[in-house]
Amino acid sequence: MTRINQAVLLISVLVILVLGGVLLTAYGRTKAPEQPIAFSHKIHAGDFKIACEYCHSYARRSTVAGIPSVARCIGCHKVTALDKPEVKKLADYWNRKEPIPWVKVFDQPDFVYFSHQPHVLKGIACESCHGPVERMEKVTEAVTLNMERCVTCHMERKASIDCWTCHK
Ligand code: HEC
Ligand code: HEC
Ligand code: HEC
Ligand code: HEC
Ligand code: HEC
Repeated sequence: MTRINQAVLLISVLVILVLGGVLLTAYGRTKAPEQPIAFSHKIHAGDFKIACEYCHSYARRSTVAGIPSVARCIGCHKVTALDKPEVKKLADYWNRKEPIPWVKVFDQPDFVYFSHQPHVLKGIACESCHGPVERMEKVTEAVTLNMERCVTCHMERKASIDCWTCHK
């Protein structure tokens, strides 16, 4: 191999590494953290059609949507799928009286004020902000809720775009 060919090869490898890095960073931004129990929205909200608000029951009356307690899970899982290893983990948390340390997926910085209530009461579907969760084995931040997205919808829907609406 000539020196020039070696140089071309070296540069190609570097370019591939850099591009790969850029792609990985972009991909890494779509958060889908590992959870303590492999909870599947596809099974619960998709296949078995359990309503979102059965588990996220604060959404229409509070800032937060809420994550269900272990008791809510056990309501079904004292009888359902007891042989599944991930359900055994669930039973362990219940027996130890410990909450499940779920990892947050959608997370706004502290200087942003967001509340579920006005949105849910206006009939805006969970999906328009969170993506098709009922098809996800594992919740992924498929939709990035950045300022542009909030403001674009607020303009379309004639909601307030004053800075203090979202930055209190
Ligand atoms: C207008 C956009 C929007 C809609 C509609 C919406 N959400 Fe959210 N949701 C958010 C944002 C933004 C966050 C992150 C809030 C934060 O970090 O302070 C969030 C966080 C959450 C969380 C985790 C934290 C919490 O609030 O408990 C859950 C669970 C959730 N949403 C479920 C739902 C469900 C279920 C619905 C439908 C009933 C829904 N969301 C509708 C924007 C939305
Ligand atoms: C309204 C009833 C109901 C509630 C509430 C419920 N589940 Fe389930 N869950 C089911 C059903 C039905 C299945 C599917 C059982 C099967 O495939 O045999 C299931 C399956 C599972 C599985 C096994 C998945 C697999 O195939 O390995 C896990 C883990 C699980 N649920 C965790 C939870 C957790 C954690 C909660 C609470 C946040 C919860 N479930 C709440 C009904 C429920
Ligand atoms: C059986 C209970 C159950 C049902 C039904 C359910 N969820 Fe969840 N949801 C959970 C649990 C438990 C978590 C925390 C673990 C995880 O992220 O997978 C969660 C997490 C989430 C999150 C991520 C919260 C965060 O950390 O940012 C969103 C968004 C969400 N759910 C939306 C929905 C939507 C939309 C529906 C209806 C299509 C729905 N959920 C139905 C139990 C449920
Ligand atoms: C899909 C459309 C949509 C998206 C996306 C959306 N909003 Fe909204 N938002 C609305 C609508 C419509 C209203 C007005 C509700 C009403 O009239 O009661 C509203 C109202 C609000 C309010 C209450 C305003 C008031 O005057 O009380 C706040 C705060 C808010 N949004 C923050 C946010 C933030 C922060 C985001 C992004 C993380 C966001 N919204 C994303 C549609 C949206
Ligand atoms: C409808 C909600 C909404 C309105 C209205 C809004 N913002 Fe934001 N803003 C957000 C959200 C959500 C974020 C955080 C997500 C992000 O970084 O885009 C943010 C982030 C920011 C940031 C930090 C940017 C960064 O890169 O970290 C600044 C500065 C800011 N907003 C200023 C403003 C000003 C000034 C106004 C009025 C002209 C305004 N915002 C109106 C929702 C809003």
